[in-house]
Amino acid sequence: MKSLILEGFMGCGKSSAAEALSKELDLPLYDTDALIEKKQNMTINEIFDKMGEPAFRDMETKVLEELGSLKRPGIISLGGGMPVRPENRELLKKLGVVFYLKAPADLLYDRLMDGKENESRPMLKGHDLKERIEGLLNEREEVYLSAADFTVALSPGMSVKDIVFSVRKACGI
Ligand code: S3P
Repeated sequence: MKSLILEGFMGCGKSSAAEALSKELDLPLYDTDALIEKKQNMTINEIFDKMGEPAFRDMETKVLEELGSLKRPGIISLGGGMPVRPENRELLKKLGVVFYLKAPADLLYDRLMDGKENESRPMLKGHDLKERIEGLLNEREEVYLSAADFTVALSPGMSVKDIVFSVRKACGI
């Protein structure tokens, strides 16, 4: 079995779905943001503030390279911008099966408008939230689709359980 990788925009629910998948399938969970924070001993916000976005993007690539040496498959939850770099998309192909959790902009807006959600996300700070989500999603949609082996279309009523079911059904596990 290959690792299962979840990609998608900030707030689409990758982390919760990955956690649930890891429990159901009894596979180790890897969250690229959490791995970076642990390694740097800083929050994502602090990394962006002190070192800048390009340094963070380099860390993302490094984490993917390191995950390439996993002995056992796992469930991998990616930061929302991970597939933007072409070299990361190449690494993802080798690493496992990629699922794009595709959420419409208004659903993302509803989730991200909560202060707790957007304060921890430097890519959203200092912008009009709605415009920023639409703009970034527009830029990234092609990238997400091109990195994905499967797309799971999310709708407002969908629970984490529903997402897990769709992921498992798509890859037949
Ligand atoms: C980012 C998404 C974040 C985190 C960082 C940058 C992005 O992860 O990696 O703030 O560029 O979309 P989540 O998608 O888990 O919020």
